[in-house]
Amino acid sequence: MNRGYCQIGLHNIFQSMKRKKKNQEITIEDISNTAPDLVSGDDNIVIDMKHIIKRYFIGQPNELEVLHGVDMQVRRGEFVAIVGQSGSGKSTLMNVIGALDRPTEGEYTLDGVDMFNAKDKDLSAIRCKKIGFVFQTYNLVARTSALKNVELPMLYAGLSGRTRSRKAKELLEMVDMAERMHHQPDELSGGQKQRVAIARAMANDPAIILADEPTGALDSHTGRLIMDIFHRLHEEQGKTIILITHSPELASECSRILTLKDGLFIDEKKGSGRNAVL
Ligand SMILES: Nc1ncnc2c1ncn2[C@@H]1O[C@H](COP(=O)(O)OP(=O)(O)OP(=O)(O)O)[C@@H](O)[C@H]1O
Ligand SMILES: [Mg+2]
Repeated sequence: MNRGYCQIGLHNIFQSMKRKKKNQEITIEDISNTAPDLVSGDDNIVIDMKHIIKRYFIGQPNELEVLHGVDMQVRRGEFVAIVGQSGSGKSTLMNVIGALDRPTEGEYTLDGVDMFNAKDKDLSAIRCKKIGFVFQTYNLVARTSALKNVELPMLYAGLSGRTRSRKAKELLEMVDMAERMHHQPDELSGGQKQRVAIARAMANDPAIILADEPTGALDSHTGRLIMDIFHRLHEEQGKTIILITHSPELASECSRILTLKDGLFIDEKKGSGRNAVL
């Protein structure tokens, strides 16, 4: 099971998981909305990272420091591109942003929630509800229809079968894949798989979409179609999107371009917007 998905049992977490904090019961729903003692700061900053360090322990006595103190702030509704050479730490950073991995040191607040100190089960719930992931290799579940793939995150979030099915069909229509909803991944082209993956990423209506080289395995025409879907989600639904790409053209269409080199941001540029190139 890919770690990007909400974990099985999340339904139970939503239903029953409660923890005491400062004599107040806080549910995961509260964390997702407004938990006054966990939520703080500027409402417009959705991702706030300060001096994030990520080290991998690759056997004693070696440790590999990949992120050396990254500072990053993303405002609600921004479309940010992260570019940089292979091995510069882009996916590592994305995994930290998406709470698939924890930073070794630093401060990280996502939509007002202190992610550095959050418990694993809280992180799962936050991932499920707030973040949609799109990967270069699609990560669809094999031998499972497009419809069921899109339903999956909603199943983990505890939605009823009828609601899941209705919403999954709407999302597949949004990416122009309704006609293929009963097809399995190995019956779909790369671009079609990525459209299903985007529909799945949108399943729980996340505020943030994290896309790690979503067009990396596609030809330029198909990559263009996928990029246009991201633009629509950004413009029409106000989604905050962080896109990792090796394509300077696609990066230039974003509102801001951050360049990562050897685990640190070395450059920040304003993008030209959707109609800039191509
Ligand atoms: N789990 C891990 N354990 C040890 N080292 C890792 C791990 N994951 C990544 N690394 C190392 O961290 C560095 C950055 O990797 P990362 O995947 O973040 O690069 P990237 O910028 O996404 O590259 P690409 O453009 O090729 O996808 C690499 O040197 C890689 O070997
Ligand atoms: Mg990568």
